[in-house]
Amino acid sequence: MSKIVKPPQAFAETMVAWQKVHGRNHLPWQNTQDPYRVWLSEIMLQQTQVTTVLDYYAKFLQHFPNVAALAAAPQDKVMGLWSGLGYYSRARNLHKCAQEVVSRFGGEFPQTAEELITLPGIGRSTAAAVASFCFSERVAIMDGNVKRVLTRVWGYDADLSFSKHEKELWQMAEQALPTRNLKTAMPRYSQALMDLGATLCLPRKPNCAACPVSKDCKAHAQAEPEKFPVKTRKLKRTSEVLWLLLAQNKRGEVWLEKRPNKGIWASLYCLPVFESEDLLQKPFAPSVSNAVGIEVTQVEVLPAFKHVLTHKNLHCHVVKVILENAPQTASAGAWWPEKEWTVLGLPTPIRHLLSNSL
Ligand code: ADE
Repeated sequence: MSKIVKPPQAFAETMVAWQKVHGRNHLPWQNTQDPYRVWLSEIMLQQTQVTTVLDYYAKFLQHFPNVAALAAAPQDKVMGLWSGLGYYSRARNLHKCAQEVVSRFGGEFPQTAEELITLPGIGRSTAAAVASFCFSERVAIMDGNVKRVLTRVWGYDADLSFSKHEKELWQMAEQALPTRNLKTAMPRYSQALMDLGATLCLPRKPNCAACPVSKDCKAHAQAEPEKFPVKTRKLKRTSEVLWLLLAQNKRGEVWLEKRPNKGIWASLYCLPVFESEDLLQKPFAPSVSNAVGIEVTQVEVLPAFKHVLTHKNLHCHVVKVILENAPQTASAGAWWPEKEWTVLGLPTPIRHLLSNSL
């Protein structure tokens, strides 16, 4: 394992100077030290491209100009505005975090990474991003892009699947932080690492020719930048079959239920979900238990589709029925007219399905 050889500040100072000229300096969450705006952007940017975030970010600020407004909003409104951005636990935690900033900190974000990390949805790297951008705290960020930059520069080839190696990389990152002019250097240094990772030090075919630190980069010297970071244990994918009931009434309204707080599509509105076709069809089969007589005028099996989540492939089957009464399902639901369901927080595949099948 290689250790840093040059004085650490040489790396930091090169990065800071590069960011000033070649980094991204006009994104809407930059040129502000408002922790609310910075925090909101950092949560949205987790696993999501800048171009996708831009519209959502503007829309959120319009509806919730400050942390108190977000805290006071109903959860459904937050989920509705997040709809389409994915990774919905981020939206639930965002809302909880805003409420805790109000209840525990009187509506002001705490100013240290140590306190920020105690809030819902704020991990070590996000806490460091907010603290370094807004309060110039000397703390290390370490998201996926930054790990790639640092492991390459230092030729750090220990397997990051093991937490002891991950911890060691954090320690090295801390040693490499700027030591001078922290007020301006810290925000710029954090941004430099992010920008280098997002624009030049790419997972495939990095642009080493344009990189400010390529002459000190071990991975570049080995001519194998793509080897880094080393991570042998990849996340294990599972798959699940879901049967979705697309029930419509004669007014054209659709039956939707709010998902539980945990599991797939947590806290979003959704069609009733069943584990099998039998369970879905049961209430509609003529039987003793159907003596109340759920009147089904039409049953149609729509084409199945696959939806890919981070840890799971979902194989979704859809049965469309026209009903007069509410379908009998385990959870509470309601009929929703089109102009109302379009603004609900719905999983993207369900939104597409409704748009294409009603
Ligand atoms: N990704 C995470 N944080 C970011 C930021 N501040 N600017 C651009 N991309 C980012």
